[in-house]
Amino acid sequence: MSGPEAPEPAGDADRPTGPVRRAVLVGGLGAVGAALTGTWWCLTGRQQFAADAPEPAGTVGPHDAVVERTERHRHWSGRTSAITLTAQPGTLDLAGRQARTWLYGDGPMSAAVRIGAGDRLRARLVNRLDVATTVHWHGLRIRNDMDGVPGLTMPAVPAGGTFDYRFVVPDPGTYWLHSHVGVQRDRGLYAPLIVTDPHEPGDHDHDETVVLDDWTDGVGPTPDAILTELRSGRTGGPVRPVMAPSSPWGPMLSELTYPLHLANARPPEDPYVIRAKPGQRLRLRLINASAATPYRVAFAGHRMTVTHADGWPVRPTTVDTLLIGMAERYDVVVTVGDGAFGLVAAAEGGTGAARVVVRTGSGATPPPGERPAELTRRLLRYADLHPAAGSTLPTRPVDRTIRLLLSQGTSRRLTWLINDQAGPHGKPVTVRQGERVRIDLVNASAMAHPIHLHGHTFALADTGLRKDTVVVLPGKTTSIRLQADNPGRWMLHCHNAYHMELGMMTELDYLT
Ligand code: C2O
Ligand code: CU
Repeated sequence: MSGPEAPEPAGDADRPTGPVRRAVLVGGLGAVGAALTGTWWCLTGRQQFAADAPEPAGTVGPHDAVVERTERHRHWSGRTSAITLTAQPGTLDLAGRQARTWLYGDGPMSAAVRIGAGDRLRARLVNRLDVATTVHWHGLRIRNDMDGVPGLTMPAVPAGGTFDYRFVVPDPGTYWLHSHVGVQRDRGLYAPLIVTDPHEPGDHDHDETVVLDDWTDGVGPTPDAILTELRSGRTGGPVRPVMAPSSPWGPMLSELTYPLHLANARPPEDPYVIRAKPGQRLRLRLINASAATPYRVAFAGHRMTVTHADGWPVRPTTVDTLLIGMAERYDVVVTVGDGAFGLVAAAEGGTGAARVVVRTGSGATPPPGERPAELTRRLLRYADLHPAAGSTLPTRPVDRTIRLLLSQGTSRRLTWLINDQAGPHGKPVTVRQGERVRIDLVNASAMAHPIHLHGHTFALADTGLRKDTVVVLPGKTTSIRLQADNPGRWMLHCHNAYHMELGMMTELDYLT
């Protein structure tokens, strides 16, 4: 449902409602009670996030007027899309295995969001889980109070509660949404978020989304059980390192071996099938929604032309295969031949794979274990990609340089650190509105880390490539340039769900 509507400020109605809030209202405290509970939620949330850290003095909070002012400067098309995301227990049918898990609605594909650039999204989160949850809109440069980080931009929505997100969606591209509470997104609490561009030439016949995910919930241990095991330092079960010295991500690819890999929430034995005609051009929007698995993607018998990275147009670049880190997105275009072909996403360094099948004619469906020869041919590197005209971050002198050291903790319990601190209790990084910032991500550890900054897209210092998630390889330093133009408190973290929970997170705060 969509239609024109007057701009509306995000007011008290945006606070989560839940049993506590309702009880207060029923108790007849009225507006004063509601205002008080609103404050209470905020304080509680903040304390959860930074229990040991002092509130950073003089920083912009999510409810400061400047956040609302920034929103009013975003161009609104006059259109609004309203959706409901119901987080609830459910079952995924994985080629006959019934996996009990948590989903939005009936699952990642049914919950997929498609909206026009410049439109306003009104999204109601209904929490039918028995634990608190939130939705984060990964990669969208939206207003800070709608970013969905519990305890930082909003309190988590309690069991039985609801929350109304309302914001203007600024940029076209391929994004996704996921829970930002604990390791909930390693269950089924994610979905694609496609922002269409009314001005795009659309040089393709089909527009398809392929979401990749490593899967354990309901077929192996729960993500929470895995986290407990990782914390304790024990191995066994899924805590089995994947080693691959010859991979660019190597030597250690992952701490975890997943029982299954899914594409569009389906296992390789029962793949999602894209139907097209020979010679047609397919735009494939690849999203890595996995918690801990980089995928090497290839399309059997075809080369792929990369057109977008993390939603932003690049100069078209043709490769045989690409590595997509956790939370990264690539759009590729392929001209498809006659037959049935596997688009295979092999867990880098491991043995499992996810896949979809593209069928344009007759012929047998390739076997689920297929490993296309393209997987070992020309691999995309960041250095191959350059922003398309109109996607560059204008050049400006740097006002501030921030160095972030990524490392593994040395204590007996497994921790992952930024500047020797385990989040969320670390000291935030601060910037000023309008500043040009350089951030040096220095990886002193033996694993690659996909580092994600909320609310912004940065540019790689070398090539200017626009991204919101950048993989920093082991032992390497990656420098990024950032324009500080979206005031608020923003998370910066590793998008390995377990690394984040084990401490590899910090926040980037705007000074007032
Ligand atoms: Cu994709 Cu902090 O999130
Ligand atoms: Cu990491």
